[in-house]
Amino acid sequence: MKKVIKNGTIVTASDEYVADLLIEEGTIAAIGKNLPEDGAEVIDATGLYVFPGGIDPHTHLEMPFGGTVSKDDFATGTKAAAFGGTTTVIDFCLTNKGEPLQAAIDRWHAKSQDKAVIDYSFHLMIGEINDQVLEQLPSVIDDEGITSFKVFMAYKNVFQADDETLFRTLVAAKDLGSLVMVHAENGDVIEYLTKQALANGQTDPIYHAKTRPSEIEGEATGRAAQLTGLADSQLYVVHVSCAEAIEKITEARQKGIQVYGETCPQYLVLDETYLEKPDFEGAKYVWSPPLREKSHQEALWNALKAGHLQTLGSDQCSFDFVGQKDLGKGDFTKIPNGGPIIEDRVSILFSEGVKKGRISLQQFVDLTSTRAAKLFGLFPKKGTISVGADADLVLFDPTIERVISASTHHMAVDYNPFEGMNITGEPVSVLSRGEFVIREKAFVGTEGDGQYIKRQKFGTSDSLPMKTSLQVEV
Ligand code: URP
Ligand code: ZN
Ligand code: ZN
Ligand code: ZN
Repeated sequence: MKKVIKNGTIVTASDEYVADLLIEEGTIAAIGKNLPEDGAEVIDATGLYVFPGGIDPHTHLEMPFGGTVSKDDFATGTKAAAFGGTTTVIDFCLTNKGEPLQAAIDRWHAKSQDKAVIDYSFHLMIGEINDQVLEQLPSVIDDEGITSFKVFMAYKNVFQADDETLFRTLVAAKDLGSLVMVHAENGDVIEYLTKQALANGQTDPIYHAKTRPSEIEGEATGRAAQLTGLADSQLYVVHVSCAEAIEKITEARQKGIQVYGETCPQYLVLDETYLEKPDFEGAKYVWSPPLREKSHQEALWNALKAGHLQTLGSDQCSFDFVGQKDLGKGDFTKIPNGGPIIEDRVSILFSEGVKKGRISLQQFVDLTSTRAAKLFGLFPKKGTISVGADADLVLFDPTIERVISASTHHMAVDYNPFEGMNITGEPVSVLSRGEFVIREKAFVGTEGDGQYIKRQKFGTSDSLPMKTSLQVEV
């Protein structure tokens, strides 16, 4: 039915004003003062922010990894995302060498269909490039609407691709209108450092961080950026964790190479010392790239503020502490990599970023929603509040204070890495295409209501070309 959201403070990546929103048929039909209420359900949003629904461009739901499978699937993961103010997730579809790409995509459709409570889309992993793979890419883009490819520069003998594969993917992406995403760490050097550590009996979780120093993230980021320039293509560096990587991204952007960077809440608020927690608790914080020394946090905040990094992903990849993380007791290399972040992504950026004066409210919306929509071909249907856009909306109370805890979160795992953290601001209601998924902090959605979204090609429609972002950059 029609809905009117009254008197909310509407915030977009460029605006902030008090108005009513009329929602019809799942989209925003009108924005204005004193919109007619006849026949509509009226929702009072006085005192609340109305944000475009969050877009999480980086999730791994029900992903096989390290001999187990990430615990949150498309049901629990998207439900937790919705509680946290996210209305679209883009998940990474993994591929196996030699397998038709469509088979991998069909596998991902099978796990998500009838489960997601919010809209979702896929990125596609490229593990090898040959004539057969190249022949399949146009249909991946045109039929599936998958317009971003992911190349892993780490996880040797598992997901890692070589530089030829990365370069050929960049060249193909330029011609096809796709954005290439990289996990930028030097997997070969990690392999060597890891073998050395184990040979020295260094088996505790902290050695996960010690064997993946920030220099090798910086090196891989710089290499990927240079290859992007050579291919005259476009690159998105996922989960940037350190000053060295920011430096390489900034340097490339200043040269006019189209490189974009994403960071994640965990790198903004947690540091390497968490991996030293006793009783193997450090394993809760094992993911890649690893948490860094505290000084990197300031570099990340500065980069968000200056526009050198453009998005915030969760890198959601959750494993229980008991029964999954403990696979690596006595050998840190066997700890499944990843953490439960999807639910707190938006709130942490609001509390630590906006409330603490590190970024503006408009930057917050850009980082959590708008920029991802533009880069990944969802804009302007998603990622903003405008007439004709999907009514994916978050009614957010900026005054609520709460403590993050596994005892109250909605993710399927037995711990929360932000346990005990005080934060201010919380989504109270969340709508997906005009229907409540969260209402007054209660789940009212339905598994299967989330739709698979085919995305537009990179750089088409209203996707922000690099030049525009360079102009606004300081
Ligand atoms: O440790 C992580 N980040 N796990 C998920 C896979 C990846 O590398 O993004
Ligand atoms: Zn309705
Ligand atoms: Zn990664
Ligand atoms: Zn990831």
